Amino acid sequence: MNGTSLLGAIKPPPPIIQIASGKGGVGKTWFSITLADALASMKRNVLLFDGDLGLANVDVQLGIAPKYDLGSVIAGRVKLSDAIITYRHDTVSGNSQGDFDVLAGKSGSGVLNALTQPELKGLQQGIIVLGDQYDHVVVDLAAGLDQSVMSLCPKGSTTLMIVNDEPTSLTDAYAFIKLLTRQEPQADIRIVINQAQSKEQARRTFAALSNACRNFLEFDLQLLGFVPKDNLVRDSIRHQTPILFRHPQSKAGEAVKRIAEALLTKIPVNTVASPQSMTGR
Ligand SMILES: Nc1ncnc2c1ncn2[C@@H]1O[C@H](COP(=O)(O)OP(=O)(O)O)[C@@H](O)[C@H]1O
Ligand SMILES: [Mg+2]
Repeated sequence: MNGTSLLGAIKPPPPIIQIASGKGGVGKTWFSITLADALASMKRNVLLFDGDLGLANVDVQLGIAPKYDLGSVIAGRVKLSDAIITYRHDTVSGNSQGDFDVLAGKSGSGVLNALTQPELKGLQQGIIVLGDQYDHVVVDLAAGLDQSVMSLCPKGSTTLMIVNDEPTSLTDAYAFIKLLTRQEPQADIRIVINQAQSKEQARRTFAALSNACRNFLEFDLQLLGFVPKDNLVRDSIRHQTPILFRHPQSKAGEAVKRIAEALLTKIPVNTVASPQSMTGR
C-alpha cells in the first residue's frame, strides 16, 4: 500500500470531474449529461459545465437555449454565476427532484482556442470556486490536446477518459494521458469504455490502453466501468432528452448509473505505478 491508496480511503467524492477523450465523437457530451443526471438523481448537487467552446453541444443535446453562456462570461457581459441555469426534467408538475444546473458553452465561437493565458487562468479559478459550491462540477471537455483543453480544470480534478474500441480513440486517449501525467504525475484518471459490444471487448480495450500506459508511462490506470452500445442513446439525443428520463431502463443509462455509484463509493486505487511495474526498467 502506498500514500495514494491510503489517501484514497479518506478522500471525499471528487468535486471536479473532467470528461475527456482525446478524440471527438466517442460520446463525451452524452456521457457528461447522463453522469450529471445520474449524480443529481442520487441527490447530489451538480453543475454540468460545457467546457467545449469550439463545438459546444450540451445545450443542443438537452434541447435548451439559455440566454447566457460561457461566451457571454468570457466577453465580460455576465458573471459566471449569472450564466448558470437549472435544467428541469419536469416543468409540468414542477417536481424538482433530480434537476441539475448547467453552464452552456458557445458553439462555433472557437473562443476557447483564442483565450489568453490569463483568461484561461480566470476560467480555471471560476471552476475552482464552483467546485466549492456544488457536490460535483462535471466538465465536458473539448476533443484534442490543446493547452486550453488540458488546463481548463485545475490540478487535483478527477479525469474520466471516455474511450471506445477504435484504434484512434486509444491512441488519442494515450496521448492525453501522457500529457496529463507529465503535468500532474499523481493524476486521478479513471477509464470508461463507451459503446462496448460486450464485456469481453470492453476488457480487451481497457487492457490495451492500460498496458501501454503501464509499459511506457509507468502509470497504472483504473477501469471505472463500461457502457454498452445502445440504440436508445441515439434516440434520446435525437429527442434532446436525457436518456435516464426518456428511457429509464435502458442498458446504457443503467450502466452510467452504476458508474456514478462507483465514482461515489469506490476507493481510488493507487494512480502512480505500483512497485512491481517499476521493476525491470
Ligand atoms: N453508448 C452508446 N451507444 C450508442 N451510441 C452512442 C453511445 N455513446 C455515444 N453514442 C453516439 O455517439 C455520438 C457522439 O456522441 P457525443 O456525445 O456527441 O460525442 P463527443 O462529445 O465525444 O463528440 C452520438 O450521436 C451517439 O449517437
Ligand atoms: Mg461533445
